[in-house]
Amino acid sequence: MSTVALKEVTKIWPDGTTAVDNVSLDVQDGEFMVLLGPSGCGKSTVLRMIAGLEDPTRGDILLNGEPVLELPPRDRSIAMVFQDFALYPHMTVSENIGFPLKLSGIEPAPRQERVDAIAGALGIGEVLARRPSQLSGGQRQRVAMGRAMVRRPGIFLMDEPLSNLDSGLRAELRAEITSMTRELGVTTMYVTHDQAEALTMADRVAIMRKGVLQDVGTPTEVYRRPATLYVAAFLGSPKMNLLEAAVYVHLDRYIALSFGEQTLYMPWNDPRARAVARYHGERIVVGIRAEALTPVTPDTQGHVFQGRIRYLEHHGHESLAYLDIGATAIVVDEMSGPVTETRTGGGFRKALQRLTGQAPEPVAPQGRVGVLSEVGKHHRKPAELAVRLAPYPAIGSGHPLAVSVRMEAVHFFDERGDRIDVGWR
Ligand SMILES: Nc1ncnc2c1ncn2[C@@H]1O[C@H](COP(=O)(O)OP(=O)(O)O)[C@@H](O)[C@H]1O
Ligand SMILES: [Mg+2]
Repeated sequence: MSTVALKEVTKIWPDGTTAVDNVSLDVQDGEFMVLLGPSGCGKSTVLRMIAGLEDPTRGDILLNGEPVLELPPRDRSIAMVFQDFALYPHMTVSENIGFPLKLSGIEPAPRQERVDAIAGALGIGEVLARRPSQLSGGQRQRVAMGRAMVRRPGIFLMDEPLSNLDSGLRAELRAEITSMTRELGVTTMYVTHDQAEALTMADRVAIMRKGVLQDVGTPTEVYRRPATLYVAAFLGSPKMNLLEAAVYVHLDRYIALSFGEQTLYMPWNDPRARAVARYHGERIVVGIRAEALTPVTPDTQGHVFQGRIRYLEHHGHESLAYLDIGATAIVVDEMSGPVTETRTGGGFRKALQRLTGQAPEPVAPQGRVGVLSEVGKHHRKPAELAVRLAPYPAIGSGHPLAVSVRMEAVHFFDERGDRIDVGWR
């Protein structure tokens, strides 16, 4: 039995950076939990605190229900694999995997038995006599996992273990890692910044932004019902269309969602109508995934946007059309890169430099505070509505296209980015 519990854990570095902000999370026995978020959001810090390599500033960490903050790393029954795993170059694969057992004084015969078993499970039984330099990247990664697993840890922590590998190998190892950890029944916490990886591997996903936990759930739950605008924008490909809408309530009849040039009407008997009606006269964000949009003939009645194709993107199995519908898109920043304000500031500085020919004072050197941070959270731009089409359609840019909107699959968020929750699924 191995469970992990974080209780209101906060990590503030000596320089004042809050890397992890009041995170509470429970990982069940045998569960494969993926921590997902952009670089710099605090994922590694969470893992390192669980492993005992860093101390939380506040809060508590429990393994199997017992507080462990007083326990040194070696007493926590945890194994960790990093992105930049290092194998011992002068040792064979077999010796590399068996090394932790040798350290804990296990005899050569039983040691070799365990090494053979784990190497077999990882598909590297044939290369046990080789040295790391004689292995492919994928084989090396498997050796690193074998070395971590050989002591039969209760908990397996993996920090972006695949990010240095090419994409074909990554897909293959994803499947192997999940099947191996499930077979062994070992509780796993797996860190990645790749949403597709998270959705394919996880039993549950925990999504972080700037040290704050945004949402936790099965891949289906967080995809179908994202708790925040940020989660909505982070998950899925193509990205969810996020449109600004003004809300006008016509009591007992319908709610008009005005997107500028076009309007969708939500009937009053829609289960979400009352919750959305609270925003009468205000702006909200309406989230529409590509799969909620279907191309229709231009005279179709009902929930329909009339658009014009701005450009097409061909993906082989499908083409994506990006439509101009005269609406405004909300862009959620901080989807990648650690510190938005700096990135926003950088872009702003460069733009200003182009205009004025001189560089202004740098803003917000740490990127944490500063005048531009208000600009940061989300900004607006003309919407390009992503719509799925059959591969290589006969239409091209400039062509008009009408799409019907499956209203029950539409998401609503308030200006702060919180889901307008109406208890539906
Ligand atoms: N040892 C450290 N000292 C100071 N700041 C750190 C240290 N390690 C990480 N940080 C900062 O803490 C934040 C979270 O980092 P990290 O947990 O590594 O993020 P992630 O793994 O999600 O990319 C970042 O702002 C990072 O710069
Ligand atoms: Mg990291």
